[in-house]
Amino acid sequence: MGPPDAILGVTEAFKADTNPKKMNLGVGAYRDDANKPFVLPSVRKAEEIIASKKLDKEYLGITGDAQFTKLAAELAYGRDSEPLKAGMISTAQSISGTGALRIGGAFLGRFFQGAGGKKIYIPSPSWGNHTPIFKDSGLDVAHYRYFDKATNGLDFAGMREDLNKIPSGSVVLFHACAHNPTGVDPTPDQWAEISRIAKQKNFTPFFDMAYQGFASGDTVKDAFAVRHFVADGHRILLSQSFSKNMGLYGERVGLFSVISDSADEAKRVDSQVKILIRPLYSNPPLSGPRIVKEILGNAELSAQWEKEVKLMADRIIDMRAQLRGHLEDTFRSKKSWSHVTSQIGMFCYSGLTPDQVDRIRSEFSVYLTRDGRISIAGITSSNVEYLAKAIHEVTK
Ligand code: LMR
Repeated sequence: MGPPDAILGVTEAFKADTNPKKMNLGVGAYRDDANKPFVLPSVRKAEEIIASKKLDKEYLGITGDAQFTKLAAELAYGRDSEPLKAGMISTAQSISGTGALRIGGAFLGRFFQGAGGKKIYIPSPSWGNHTPIFKDSGLDVAHYRYFDKATNGLDFAGMREDLNKIPSGSVVLFHACAHNPTGVDPTPDQWAEISRIAKQKNFTPFFDMAYQGFASGDTVKDAFAVRHFVADGHRILLSQSFSKNMGLYGERVGLFSVISDSADEAKRVDSQVKILIRPLYSNPPLSGPRIVKEILGNAELSAQWEKEVKLMADRIIDMRAQLRGHLEDTFRSKKSWSHVTSQIGMFCYSGLTPDQVDRIRSEFSVYLTRDGRISIAGITSSNVEYLAKAIHEVTK
């Protein structure tokens, strides 16, 4: 018997709880202020347009819908991206971010050989699924320092020191924005320095961009790290997800891309990515990319979508402020809660210990992952006070 998944297992336990006050703050899935799953109005419109077209259900090619992959790559790299215009970026539609990471892992597992072997360096901590994804792809996983427990912020000095120690030519994973689980990102200046180190050390950066738009409410701002590295000449690998920013969770739509030295090399990479994907799942699903391309390919719908992303990001910011306000003002907690509002994106890395997480679950039916990560997107104006009380009770 295997153990339940560290994140999705929380949802299973939550579903079995009969307490009407229960809260699921485990998985990162956006809810509206009535605690309901939110289908973006732009997505609904796109679906209506698609339905009216009476499209067929033929197989997509192995690397997916070409119009979708083009538009998704433009969203990440920018329409004016030089390597994109030069045909140096190979793309493959993926089963969301996890699938993109897995294609990248399999590609590295097959073709990469670094000084330290087949190894990828990821931040500590990182998304709980990163290690299994890369291990199952045949890579060893090592860590670099990222989070400072004392400040609940970035341990930039530790990160820099560790990056400088990693063998030259290694593959290093970065969260492009809204780091999961900590909600702590480097500043643009810090990214510039990380890029310089990565250049000196000839790293291959692998960016995981699951939350484009969720950090700042602006998809262009959130692509800063990716675009900065690309402008510095890095040949990056990139995983994109449309689960969060378009709310297309169950549609499983994302993009894997990799930059080559030339358009010719990109074609060869593309051929090898196809050879990897075909025995994995043959070709990707049809509905998700249709929605994404309908939105990104339509200026009006795309502008509407950008507003909806901001709306989601703003509701999360508001919940952060309310949660902190209740902890400090309503319940007079003596602990510092400034990180609740200084951290960004969907998550707050609360600092709750595994024991406190167990208590808040058994005494208050509040469900979160055992690392103390809170999915802020699951809080509403009706239950934020209850949550603050629960947190206060288990931390005082
Ligand atoms: C999360 O971290 O909660 C999300 O990325 C969902 C998942 O698949 O784990």
